[in-house]
Amino acid sequence: MLRQCALRVLSRTRAAPGCRRYGSCSPSAGGDTGEARAYFTTPIFYVNAAPHIGHLYSALLADALCRHRRLCVPGSASTRFATGTDEHGLKIQQAAATAGLSPIELCDRVSAQFQQLFREAGISSTDFIRTTEARHRLAVQHFWEVLEARGMLYKGLYEGWYCASDECFLPEAKVTRQVGPTGDPCPVSLESGHPVSWTKEENYIFRLSQFREPLQRWLRNNPQAITPEPFHQTVLQWLEEELPDLSVSRRSSHLHWGIPVPGDDSQTIYVWLDALVNYLTVVGYPDADFKSWWPATSHIIGKDILKFHAIYWPALLLGAGLRPPHRIYVHSHWTVSGQKMSKSLGNVVDPRTCLDRYTVDGFRYFLLRQGVPNWDCDYYDEKVVKLLDSELADALGGLLNRCTAYRINPSGTYPSFCTACFPSEPGLTGPSVRVQAEDYALVSAMATLPRQVADYYDDFQIYKALEAVSSCVRQTNGFIQRHAPWKLTWESPEDALWLGTVLHVAFECLRVFGTLLQPVTPSLADKLLSRLGVSAEERGLRELHFLPRFYGHSCPFEGRKLGPDTGLLFPRLDQSRTWLVKAHRT
Ligand code: MSP
Repeated sequence: MLRQCALRVLSRTRAAPGCRRYGSCSPSAGGDTGEARAYFTTPIFYVNAAPHIGHLYSALLADALCRHRRLCVPGSASTRFATGTDEHGLKIQQAAATAGLSPIELCDRVSAQFQQLFREAGISSTDFIRTTEARHRLAVQHFWEVLEARGMLYKGLYEGWYCASDECFLPEAKVTRQVGPTGDPCPVSLESGHPVSWTKEENYIFRLSQFREPLQRWLRNNPQAITPEPFHQTVLQWLEEELPDLSVSRRSSHLHWGIPVPGDDSQTIYVWLDALVNYLTVVGYPDADFKSWWPATSHIIGKDILKFHAIYWPALLLGAGLRPPHRIYVHSHWTVSGQKMSKSLGNVVDPRTCLDRYTVDGFRYFLLRQGVPNWDCDYYDEKVVKLLDSELADALGGLLNRCTAYRINPSGTYPSFCTACFPSEPGLTGPSVRVQAEDYALVSAMATLPRQVADYYDDFQIYKALEAVSSCVRQTNGFIQRHAPWKLTWESPEDALWLGTVLHVAFECLRVFGTLLQPVTPSLADKLLSRLGVSAEERGLRELHFLPRFYGHSCPFEGRKLGPDTGLLFPRLDQSRTWLVKAHRT
């Protein structure tokens, strides 16, 4: 029964390895890979303050999805991954004034911080866009002209609340009063708590109300458009309510830091319209070739900007005669001691300190393993140490150590698998059979793991993919513990066959773990795979066939020399980090 299951899995794995289809476009004529294209984006980040771990989390989720796709479809030409900075608008204009800088000075400074952070964190973006670039101004103005030509804009009086921090208009029902610094009640946004001010001016207005039904249709016909599913439902619920037209410009005398409305310098384009168009700018809009990437787009965004991406953006695209993005992946937020991170509360967690303390791979693993898209997650240092020590240092690192230790594997090779010791048919008996029933459960779990991981990536549940890997690591440690290879000896011919088989199975598991961890912990995975002697060409998901000898195929790794020992895979943190002791004392 178990074997049947494992065999079925293998045949599935061979036909369709652990890959899922991300939003994809056919390559344009002359497309160089022949593969469908996929385009991943992060939100572009406001430059009013330095990056924090929430921003890094958004970028890491996109990075992991994109790296996973590259493992399925190798070659750089068919996958694109954009990030960048959102540099216009009232928020930036005001932040620059407060800092005593010109807006562009502030933008240059903070944009560089984001770029440096992302470089250090291994964000493998192919494009970094700044909305102050000339190419972007051109794209936004062109997009505006298309909207205008299609009759989507009109001039009208806008009167209502505006929240500069959130850069959004709010109806009366979304505004409340809070006691301000002077003791007087101040109007604030009900959702974010940020101050709002009353605005009355003549603006250009976008006919958003026309798109309620088209948006409903789009979402009903594309149940995977917004993932995870509860966010899809949220948007459908929003669309049950009235959808008022949207003001898409501000008076330039009030907002000068932005892109002027073409042909009307007295108005500046609304920063969200400006920002959203970045996704088109990156792929060359308005040049015709942008269509080879659009709408094969996966937008990764935080839940706070869902309305902009799932209502305004698709409506604007439809208004401009373009298709909505293929997928929108939504995540929740990191809090600190249950509170929102904010400069005023002084609880902002600096991502660069975290990368230094926990290493790049360690911190990437932590955020992606603990971050649950559907709910907010609370951050604290002890949680990071506990997780990394137990899963990366002890479980995974310990497993590698045990199997490669000189006294257990003195030849330093990838040992052979003996089918007489570990027959494909459970329940067989014979003088050489040493396998136990639980070992078949391990084989079965390992054979399904790549597909399971791919499905979790597709559902934007990367933490579950890592949980599944971690559970298999535990099972593999159990396998080693059960068979205690340190009690076997190479000198005895019967022991030697079984000892080789036990190590072979463990190496095969480690090879699968290393391959599957590449999107999350690229350096650690590289170290692991290099130690096992797995070459760069053997690290894709298409080539990932677990334990081929068990299924009657040849195994290219048998007898191969292991790679050099370059030290512990992931050193434990709790003994080596003096700052933690200090943190406990204070
Ligand atoms: N500039 C807009 C996005 C425009 S995209 C066309 C913006 N910028 S932001 O800097 O405020 O946020 C960028 C991303 O960081 C968003 O996805 C947001 O959800 C995310 N995060 C901000 N704080 C966060 C946490 N505390 N936790 C997790 N992610 C959070 O919005």
